[in-house]
Amino acid sequence: MLIKPDAIERNLIGRIISRVEETPLKILDMKKVFFSREMTEQFYGEHKEEEFYNRLINYMADKNVVALKLEGLDAIKILRRLVGATDPKKAEKNTIRADFGLGTPQNSVHASDSEKSAKREIDFFFGEKN
Ligand code: CMP
Repeated sequence: MLIKPDAIERNLIGRIISRVEETPLKILDMKKVFFSREMTEQFYGEHKEEEFYNRLINYMADKNVVALKLEGLDAIKILRRLVGATDPKKAEKNTIRADFGLGTPQNSVHASDSEKSAKREIDFFFGEKN
C-alpha cells in the first residue's frame, strides 16, 4: 500500500495508518520514500497508454510517498474494501478514499490489485536492492 502525496501534504499519514490497524492486517515494514520521476514511471508503467498517465506521473513524481508492507489472510480483498473505488466520489462510505480523497489522481492511497502486483510492488519498495 502507498500513502500518496495529497494525503501526506494534509497530515493524514497517521489517520490512514490507523484505518489499516483497525483491520486484521499486520504492518511488516513501512518507509517514507522520495518517489523520483524515474521510479514513478517504472511503478506505473502498466498505465502508460491511459489518457490520465501524464497527470498521474506529474502528480506523483518528485514527492514523498509512504510505502507499507502488509500481510494477512485475504490481504488484497481486505485492503481494497478499506480503500474504496478509485474515484473518491464513487468510493463506498467510510472508505479511505471517500473520507480523504480529493479526486483522481489525488485519491490518497494506492492498493495492489492482485497477489502478483503486490509481490512486484513489495519488491519495488522493500526488495534487496533498496
Ligand atoms: P492507483 O490505485 O494508484 O492506480 C492508478 C492511479 O491512476 C489511480 O490510483 C489514480 O490515482 C490514477 N487514476 C486512475 N484513473 C484516473 C483518471 N480517470 N484520471 C486521473 N487519474 C486516474
